[in-house]
Amino acid sequence: MQVHPARPRILLGVTGGIAAYKAAELVRRLRAMGAEVQVVMTKAATRFVTPWTLQALSGRPVRTRLWDQTAEAAMGHIELARWAERVVIAPASADFLAKLRAGLADDLLSTLCLATEAPIAVAPAMNRRMWRHPATQENLAVLKKRGVQVWGPATGAQACGETGPGRMLEAAELCERIRAWLRPGPLNGKRVLITAGPTREAIDPVRFLSNRSSGKMGYALAQAAAEAGAQVVLVSGPTALAPPPVAELVRVESAKEMYEAVMARVENTAIFIAAAAVADYTPAVVQPHKIKKETEWLHLELVKTQDILAEVARRPKRPFTVGFAAETERLEEHARAKLERKGLDMIAANKVGKGVGFEVDENCLWVLWPGGARRLPLASKLTLARQLVALIAERYAAKNSAKDSR
Ligand code: PMT
Repeated sequence: MQVHPARPRILLGVTGGIAAYKAAELVRRLRAMGAEVQVVMTKAATRFVTPWTLQALSGRPVRTRLWDQTAEAAMGHIELARWAERVVIAPASADFLAKLRAGLADDLLSTLCLATEAPIAVAPAMNRRMWRHPATQENLAVLKKRGVQVWGPATGAQACGETGPGRMLEAAELCERIRAWLRPGPLNGKRVLITAGPTREAIDPVRFLSNRSSGKMGYALAQAAAEAGAQVVLVSGPTALAPPPVAELVRVESAKEMYEAVMARVENTAIFIAAAAVADYTPAVVQPHKIKKETEWLHLELVKTQDILAEVARRPKRPFTVGFAAETERLEEHARAKLERKGLDMIAANKVGKGVGFEVDENCLWVLWPGGARRLPLASKLTLARQLVALIAERYAAKNSAKDSR
C-alpha cells in the first residue's frame, strides 16, 4: 500500500483499558510528526478517556459507532477502511485481540480491521495474568502469523497493583515504531520465497534420517525479509520455532515435499533463498512396517534427492537465487564452486559442525556472488539475517538495473 510520506494517514483504534489515557499523547506526537490521525474508539474506551479530548488533539471527529446515521449513509466504515494507510490499535485489550483473531465485526473498530487492506499493528495493554493466559498468547501467535505487528507490552507496575508484563509501550516509543514502519523497506512488496530447517526422510513408519538444522537461520531470514517490506513465503521443515510474521508458512517434512512446495510457489517470486538443510539422499524404499531387530547388519539403500536450489536456478524466468553452503572445511573454495556449478546469484557460506552453524543462536557468513564477496562476522542469526537481506536487496537492485539498461 502506497503511503503518503509527508502526511501518512493513520487510523488509531483505542480500546478499553486504563492505558487509553496514553492515546492522547500518542495522537499529539503523531500529529507533530505530520500524520493525519483518525481516532476510532470502542464503547469501553470512552469510559476511560473522552472522545472530546482525542477529537481536539487529532483535529477530526472521533468515530465511536458503527451505526452512526450521518457517516453510515455513505458506507462510512468502508471509506475509513480504504482511507487508512496504517491501522494502529493502542491500547489493544485482551478482548479486542481475541476479536481480531476471530474476525468478529460487531463494532466499528473490529469491522474496520476486517475491511481494511492497510497493515495493522497492536500495542497490547492488560493485566499480567491476562497477558500470560494461553488464550491471549494463542491469539497473538495467530495474529503475528497473519502479519499483524505486535509492539510490547512493557513490564512494570500495573494499574491493578501487580507487577509484570502488560503495560502499554509509552507514546514516544510507539511513535518511533510507527515512524520506522512507515519508511519503505528495500524489498517493499517483493515476493520472497525462503526454505528453512531440516528435512526428515522416512526409513519406516517410526524412523527417519535428518540433520542438526533447527531452522533458526531460515526463520531469522524470513523475519528480516518481512521487516524489509517483502511478502514472505516460508517453506519449513520440522522445527520447534514460533512462526515469524510471514504471508504464508508451509510446513513440510521430506525433501520431496519441500521440492513440491517450492515448485508450486516459485512463479512470480522475486527472490529465492535456500537456507534449509535438505537431505541429499533419501531411502530408496520406505518400509511399510517397523523394521525388526533381527539381523546383525542392516543395509539401507539411499537415492539422491532432487536439488531444489539447482532446479530453481535452472528455470528460464528464475528469481534472484541465493543458496547457502554448509561446509566443514575449505569454506570459500567449496562455496565458490557451488555458486558457479549451480549458476547462483549469491551464496552464503557457513562453517558447520556440532555446536557451530547448526542449532546455535549465533553464526558468521562468507557471502559470495559473481565478482564479489563480503564477510559478515559473528553475530546473532537475526542480525546476520538483516545484513544478508540488505546485501541481497542491493545485489538484486544492481542486477535489475543492469538488465534494464541492456
Ligand atoms: O537451521 P539452523 O540450526 O539455524 O542452521 C543453519 C544452517 C547451518 C542449516 C544454514 O545456515 C545453512 O547452511 N543451510 C544450508 C544447509 C545445506 O544443506 O547446505 P549444502 O551445502 O548441503 O547445500 C547447498 C544448498 O543447496 C543449500 O542452499 C541447500 O538449501 C540447497 N539444497 C541442497 C540439497 C537439496 N536437495 N536441495 C537444495 O535446495
